[in-house]
Amino acid sequence: MQNDRPMSTENAVLESKYNVTAWFYDILDYPWERQYRRWRPQLLRDVAQKVLEAGVGTGRNLRHYAPGVELTGIDLSSKMLAKARRRSRNAACAVELIREDATALTSCPESHFDWVVSFFLCCVMPDALQPLAVRQFERVLKPGGRFRLLEMVYSEDPALRRRQEYFAPFVEKVYGARFDRDTLQHVENSEKLRVTNTYFLKKDIYLVIEGNRLP
Ligand SMILES: C[S@@+](CC[C@H](N)C(=O)[O-])C[C@H]1O[C@@H](n2cnc3c(N)ncnc32)[C@H](O)[C@@H]1O
Repeated sequence: MQNDRPMSTENAVLESKYNVTAWFYDILDYPWERQYRRWRPQLLRDVAQKVLEAGVGTGRNLRHYAPGVELTGIDLSSKMLAKARRRSRNAACAVELIREDATALTSCPESHFDWVVSFFLCCVMPDALQPLAVRQFERVLKPGGRFRLLEMVYSEDPALRRRQEYFAPFVEKVYGARFDRDTLQHVENSEKLRVTNTYFLKKDIYLVIEGNRLP
């Protein structure tokens, strides 16, 4: 399935960036992925039923979903999705992959998903677009449905922050990602989503935001 709806300039820029980055994404990301791959199974263990993974990327999460999951993975970049499609062969669950914009989700019905999962999407997404994505997550989640987001943020530790600031121009150029996005605030601003838990996976950099859609 393909969504051909026109998109914002920011998204068009991100899409072309990721269509290029896709060729070397897994190699470039390998040093970090060695860390992430320990977190992915633990973050996906309780995820069940109909699941939307927004910004599925090269499909690093796919093999960690339980067999009963019906997964819809969406991404702006067809080249990232092509990599995910190859990885979906190792998934234990049913997987549908769609080129789709998380700020529009035109192919996703209302109140359809039991879970929305998204790792390292919002740190890539400009703050101006994040309320649109949050609104879509509200719309497509069933009442009581759950969400789990994993994002990178700036550390409060001055030494760590200096290191992040050193890498920030590279991270933004290659991934479009920034450490200063206000994702937690955008989710907390939602009238329909309730944040029930936030915690860090490592130092105060890798932030997990969890919650549910109000009934
Ligand atoms: C940093 S990668 C993370 C990939 C994957 N979630 C992971 O954990 O490895 C961010 C992904 O989000 C996608 N993306 C960015 N903006 C998007 C949007 N508006 N809608 C859907 N996907 C988007 C990019 O194409 C890219 O594949």
